[in-house]
Amino acid sequence: MAKHKTPLLDQLESGPWPSFVSDIKQECENRAKNEKGVEFQIPADCPEDLLGVLELSYVDGETHWKHGGIVGVFGYGGGVIGRYCDQPEMFPGVAHFHTIRVNQPSGKYYTTEFLRQLCDLWEFRGSGLTNMHGATGDIVFIGTTTPQLEEIFYELTHNLNTDLGGSGSNLRTPATCLGMSRCEYACYDTQALCFNLTNEYQDELHRPAFPYKFKFKFDGCPNGCVASIARSDFSVIGTWRDEIRIDQEAVAGYVGGELAPNAGAHAGRDWGKFDIQKEVIDLCPSECMSYEDGKLSIDNKECVRCMHCINTMPRALRIGNDRGASIFVGAKAPILDGAQMGSLLVPFVKVDAGNDYQEIKDIVEGIWDLWMEEGKNRERLGETMKRMGFQKIIESAGVPVDVRQVQEPRTNPYIFWKAEDVEGGWDRDIAEYRKRHQQ
Ligand code: HEM
Ligand code: HEM
Ligand code: SF4
Ligand code: SF4
Repeated sequence: MAKHKTPLLDQLESGPWPSFVSDIKQECENRAKNEKGVEFQIPADCPEDLLGVLELSYVDGETHWKHGGIVGVFGYGGGVIGRYCDQPEMFPGVAHFHTIRVNQPSGKYYTTEFLRQLCDLWEFRGSGLTNMHGATGDIVFIGTTTPQLEEIFYELTHNLNTDLGGSGSNLRTPATCLGMSRCEYACYDTQALCFNLTNEYQDELHRPAFPYKFKFKFDGCPNGCVASIARSDFSVIGTWRDEIRIDQEAVAGYVGGELAPNAGAHAGRDWGKFDIQKEVIDLCPSECMSYEDGKLSIDNKECVRCMHCINTMPRALRIGNDRGASIFVGAKAPILDGAQMGSLLVPFVKVDAGNDYQEIKDIVEGIWDLWMEEGKNRERLGETMKRMGFQKIIESAGVPVDVRQVQEPRTNPYIFWKAEDVEGGWDRDIAEYRKRHQQ
């Protein structure tokens, strides 16, 4: 028998999509039965009260969480999002309902053994409810009380060898596409780079030292499966700089209909017979491809590595062999001064595990040096870029100025010059001028 009546939420149990309401109800039942005899460290009916308060919010059309909440574990400045219900008498099970961010493995590959251990811990010391995963990437434990935080942290670190993720004005939990683990387009080992930088910058992740939040994300190619260009201040996107490898026999396979275009992604509808001219050649944004006498050719120096042709004929076209990545900076959501996507800072950098990715780390640290000194309170890197100018970011990152850093040159003539670049500098004598020009 449910603790609270939830007529509105009950409607979300119908329909084909997995219902979060049915799932939470199932966990309510599990905890009520408690077949394993768990000594629950927070109220056993916590998920019941969560449904109760959610139903109330559905009725009111308003949230019932109080503003903010500052909790955590000793040694760290972030990792836990504190939260308290604004109707604690009605819903005591969620009077405290803190969220713990747990650092996920790059690419989110798990063994059941590890997940079971996580679940055992969370069933015992938390609500039994999770988010797999948070938008930044973390495993999210949803709902526990303050006294459990250190207990959970102790068990995570001592038994599961796992750390918290980030929150606050710091480096947040980095995330990556699954990269070379199972994608033929991966131009570098995204998971290895993500793991390496996460470990390198643990201090920056756990103890806020920045003007505001800062995120890393790693895509293996321009398809952007982790959306680094939109969701990270520092976005690393794989690419190559030599030639697309063409297998002419496989091209013939596509033209002849033996191979499905886009690996069958559009098989759910009849789009007619594959037409290489219409579906590839004519759609190439650089118009740098041609198909003549049964032979596909690409003018690679004009190719912008958009991925379209490779995505369409994955068995015939492959990324080049001279691989690396581009670095984009400044992506952010609208608040305060408008949304930004990453702007190209470094067109090509080798991703070199051999030197511990030092080239990439130098760029990161160059940018942090500037932003940590000059960034205003709660100003994202993208905003600092707009306020101080992209030129300053280029200088602090220690990378060359490159024509590819702009989509188009400026149209206004408000151009700043450095005094040392102007003959004679800025100190001028008006009397000298007046000798030649009467007032
Ligand atoms: C034949 C007459 C004029 C000529 C040839 C002339 C030419 C110019 C030029 C070349 C500039 C510099 C533009 C730049 O920095 O890119 C300028 C700026 C300016 N002129 Fe004139 N001007 C004339 C008349 C006037 C008059 C009558 C006024 C005011 C009543 C005026 C007010 C200004 C002001 C305020 C600026 C500065 C604008 C700014 O910095 O954006 N000008 N003018
Ligand atoms: C109470 C009177 C005035 C106030 C409060 C005022 C205020 C301002 C402000 C805030 C700016 C922008 C400055 C900037 O971009 O850094 C400006 C620019 C300008 N004002 Fe005024 N102004 C006043 C009167 C006038 C008058 C009477 C004239 C001309 C007869 C004038 C001509 C201009 C011009 C040409 C600019 C552009 C200068 C530039 O772009 O560098 N202003 N004014
Ligand atoms: S971003 Fe590219 S490399 Fe990474 S999974 Fe997606 S398609 Fe593959
Ligand atoms: S990757 Fe894009 S730009 Fe390059 S040849 Fe293929 S379709 Fe054209």
